[in-house]
Amino acid sequence: MSFIKTNKDYKTTSINNYFEFLTGFKKEEVIGKDTIELMSGKEYKKNIYNILKNIFEGKNNDVYSESSLLTKDGEEKLIAWKDSLVVTGEMEPVILSIGIDITEKKKSEKKIKRNLELESSLNEIRNIIEFRDFDKFKSIAEILFSTINIDRFEIIEYETKLNNFHRDIYEYSKDGKTSLKKEIVSSTSESISWVKNTLLKNNTIEVLNVSKLDSSFKIKDFLLRNNIRSFITISLIIKNELYAAITFNLFDNNDKDWLECDIEYIKKVGIILKNELRNIIQFKKVEKTLNDTVNTLSSVVQMRDAYTSSHQMRVSNLAVSIAKKMNLSDEKIKNIEVASKLHDIGKINIPGEILSKPGKINDLEFSLIKEHCKYGYNILQKIDFEGPIAEIVYQHHERIDGSGYPRGLKNKEILLESKIIAVSDVVEAMMSHRPYRKALGIKKALKEIDEFSGIKFDKDVVDACLDLFNNDNYNLPKINGDFN
Ligand SMILES: [Fe+2]
Repeated sequence: MSFIKTNKDYKTTSINNYFEFLTGFKKEEVIGKDTIELMSGKEYKKNIYNILKNIFEGKNNDVYSESSLLTKDGEEKLIAWKDSLVVTGEMEPVILSIGIDITEKKKSEKKIKRNLELESSLNEIRNIIEFRDFDKFKSIAEILFSTINIDRFEIIEYETKLNNFHRDIYEYSKDGKTSLKKEIVSSTSESISWVKNTLLKNNTIEVLNVSKLDSSFKIKDFLLRNNIRSFITISLIIKNELYAAITFNLFDNNDKDWLECDIEYIKKVGIILKNELRNIIQFKKVEKTLNDTVNTLSSVVQMRDAYTSSHQMRVSNLAVSIAKKMNLSDEKIKNIEVASKLHDIGKINIPGEILSKPGKINDLEFSLIKEHCKYGYNILQKIDFEGPIAEIVYQHHERIDGSGYPRGLKNKEILLESKIIAVSDVVEAMMSHRPYRKALGIKKALKEIDEFSGIKFDKDVVDACLDLFNNDNYNLPKINGDFN
């Protein structure tokens, strides 16, 4: 505990050894000097002056306060004081101030508070990752900029194609601006391959002072030219391949360095983002595999019947357009796309002679053709699709009045997805050539669905389809290998 005595002129009359130790001042340097001058900060000086004045005037006694004391080295110490009036015999009254150094306590309180802030910010980021679909990274950037001192945050996705490195750079700046740069760089370039190898070798690169890097760091000049003082980069490596890097920057003109807790926070955010990017990349891969599989499967029918393959592709294009027009969810649209590309896959079980037979088919042949819905269902139900693809295909020839096949389902028993494919199927079929007849043309096709709107076909689906052709200039796409 340090003691300091102050007389009525606010001059220091005595201090103890601990005060000397704490402040670095010797007794002779302090005694006779203004007590208030030892404090730092205007507010503290004013406050201490008022406390001492009130005590001398008898308005108050035994006052507790906090103020900062300036040491001889110019360091600030935070002190908790108790000030009391001491009257001893014939000596003039003085105020005895007893002080305890609370600097460390305050610092650790501040540190705990800061750590709690950082932890709650991390939780907020984790929540965004888990629950938000759109603009995920933009929201995270906003949290980053409001939590710590950081100038830029970048997510770079890498893709290696032949000798080139494709980079998608998503950049988020402090001012809320975001940008996407797409770059193709040759991986034979020395600095590019050095960056790639460095990222591959290190999960985390932390450079707090770029100017202190030695020249073996090949992009030092580039960083200096771009005014980057500090950066932390976390790389995403899957099976020895570089997929992404997340970089946090501090620019030269920023007047504060990162504190230890900032660095720790940045690395934690980097790891959260890296895991999310890994999920996104793996999801994209699975989606691509599924799309490739669906397209391959769809074209398998080509071997049996050239009409069916291009028919499915065109039906898919129209069905997806109708679904979008009807504002269906992304999930439903995806299911419609997949199901329509495969809706006639069951025809691979129908003899080719029947499928490509010119002229009218007989009842027996027609009953065989009808089986393709069930065959398609049997094939597709073995595949673990996200949506009810097999069932949608099963129902694509059903009509809302129950006149369809194979089960004669009615209105509510039929999936909306199947109703959309049913309309698209009829329109496409009537607009195209068939072995047994010429193309009937768009007018006849639209007249057909309009005539049976609300009878065989769902009214909303027909309306959306008519709207596409009549008002949106929609047309069926040309498909490679198309025989029309
Ligand atoms: Fe069909």
